[in-house]
Amino acid sequence: MARIGAIPGNGVNRQCLTQEDIRARALLISWAKARGYQVLVDDIANLFIRRQGKDASAAPVLTGSHMDSQPAGGRFDGIYGVLAGLEALEALDDQGIRTRLPIEVVAWTNEEGGRFPPGAMGSAVFAGARRLEDCLDVTDPAGVRFADALRDTLNATAGLERRAFNRPLRAYIEAHIEQGPELEAKGLPIGVVTGIQGSRWFVVTVRGEGAHAGTTPLAARKDAVRSAVRMIAALEELMHDGDDRLRFTVGRVDVTPNSPNTVAEEATFSIDFRHPDAGALERKGDRIAEICARHAGPCDVSVVENFSRAPSVFAPALVETLEQAAEALDVGHQRMPSGAFHDANFLSEVCPTAMLFVPCERGVSHNPAENAKPEDLATGARVLTAALVELAGTDRIAFRPSSIK
Ligand code: HGY
Ligand code: MN
Ligand code: MN
Repeated sequence: MARIGAIPGNGVNRQCLTQEDIRARALLISWAKARGYQVLVDDIANLFIRRQGKDASAAPVLTGSHMDSQPAGGRFDGIYGVLAGLEALEALDDQGIRTRLPIEVVAWTNEEGGRFPPGAMGSAVFAGARRLEDCLDVTDPAGVRFADALRDTLNATAGLERRAFNRPLRAYIEAHIEQGPELEAKGLPIGVVTGIQGSRWFVVTVRGEGAHAGTTPLAARKDAVRSAVRMIAALEELMHDGDDRLRFTVGRVDVTPNSPNTVAEEATFSIDFRHPDAGALERKGDRIAEICARHAGPCDVSVVENFSRAPSVFAPALVETLEQAAEALDVGHQRMPSGAFHDANFLSEVCPTAMLFVPCERGVSHNPAENAKPEDLATGARVLTAALVELAGTDRIAFRPSSIK
């Protein structure tokens, strides 16, 4: 899978709804069909692989994650959870285990939000937290509309049965690399995730006036970059946190006309602000627009919030199921929150939801150097399988490790 969109440094650039994403989907579908699983898709191209249960009409247990990557992403972020889910289905086939409930593996569309912000679009629309029509006119940096890229992706899997959004689910469990250093530092193979910190995304657009860099006096300029830099410096002060729990990132800056000898007419920058405490998110996030206006100088400024998610808490019963699965398999584990957001964020609004983490090297992610050990990835898949079987019900297993190895 990592060969699709491979980039130097052993990473991948498989951004959502690109040709690489379409090829990766086709590969996943070929693996699923080789096992006789049913493959379905919904109107935002979320892809579902279904393994039947004895009670075909029952609400399925769902697992999975996302297949899209950051532009300079790693081989594990997202796709690990999809492939661990597929491994779980195959392991059940190989062991001849039938479950009472169907089990489905999902690959959510556009979790990353790098190409078409904001992130977690597929799971948000599935869960009813966002309307599909509100996503269609979002454009990528090249000006491509989400609607057009979505149409091409759906056309590439035209033969698949369509299904509705937000169907009843027994539970959702997502396996993911930690994207932080804690599990590796503690030598623990499993993190049982208790919830996800809150996130607020903004786009700040500073409008000035293009001018000649050599002839225009500084006092006469409406320099959009100069004002944007002052805003960012002031926001850094607002976001200072001695405990280093707050996360504030300006990851994208676009300048027009972006020429070394033309004073910038316009500067647009992104804000990704996160915090585990809802109060801090609100207090500091609500001051962003005022601070940008104060430092606009002779320029105009607009601040648009395009993503806002309160901290989410996962279902305690499901957190316990994951802990019991780790214990039954004699695997070291700890409870921990997630600093990264995930599709599980939106699923936690519609069904009992939890996540499990596996370690990744030095916690590096959203970077081609992202890496994880095969034995840790396998341990995560085994714990996931044990938890899925517990939730889907079967007459043969109550976490007897020998039947899952
Ligand atoms: O940004 C995030 O937290 C996720 O990895 N897309
Ligand atoms: Mn991810
Ligand atoms: Mn990511």
